Amino acid sequence: MFQGMSWNAKQYDSNFSFVSQYGRGVVELLAPRADERILDLGCGTGDLAVEIAATGAVVHGVDGDPEMIRTAREKHGSAPGAPSFEVVDVYELSVAEPFDAVFSNAVLHWLTRPDDAIARVRDALLPGGRFVAEFGAGRNVATLIDGLRQAVAEVVPEAEVALPWYFPSTAEHATRLENAGFEVVYTHYFDRPTPLAEGDTAADWWRMFGPRTLAAFPVERHDALLARVDELLRDRLTDSSGRWSADYTRLRFVAVRR
Ligand code: BEZ
Repeated sequence: MFQGMSWNAKQYDSNFSFVSQYGRGVVELLAPRADERILDLGCGTGDLAVEIAATGAVVHGVDGDPEMIRTAREKHGSAPGAPSFEVVDVYELSVAEPFDAVFSNAVLHWLTRPDDAIARVRDALLPGGRFVAEFGAGRNVATLIDGLRQAVAEVVPEAEVALPWYFPSTAEHATRLENAGFEVVYTHYFDRPTPLAEGDTAADWWRMFGPRTLAAFPVERHDALLARVDELLRDRLTDSSGRWSADYTRLRFVAVRR
């Protein structure tokens, strides 16, 4: 989803399709209109770009991961009115013709230089253009992180936990947007516990989304570490049927370029 991290696009589509499914509410917030030009920032395998394009909007999806873009083109590239897709590093985003709107789902928390990213989005928008997005913020995945920290303290006590995410408060993020020249017209901060795929556990979540964090620990300790994470978190993150959830907290916003 962003430059520097390689994703398994097929596994992402099969076990983590909830990312796009939950993103449908953000498409409603975007309220795309026919013929609007819309940029989908961090489009992944393109499912939401296609939904936006179905309204008659002209959609361009960009993602830093070539495998995601290859999969997006394979899945959607040939349909009439289909989005175009391109490999672009967000921090290098530069467009010839500014867009009416920039849409982004479940991506901004990966951008640990938020001011640089927001400035690139601003420059990609027409004056009056809207930036509509949802991402993990505030206390997002605090329980998953807590479990990992506890397990690391027991299994690899000499190691440190480094997290590659930006989880701001609503106020912090709104201030960054305003400082960059946006007017923030809507925000909604909410908990959205998100069931994982049947059979997946906290360990699977960490393997999929935390490879850079796990890389700091000796590879031969990963199985023991993640088994301990599951033990520590089972009571906190499973329901009565044993199904695991990730403790997601989302920030949704609409900001308009002044
Ligand atoms: C999220 O969607 O909130 C998220 C996904 C992967 C890593 C961290 C957060």
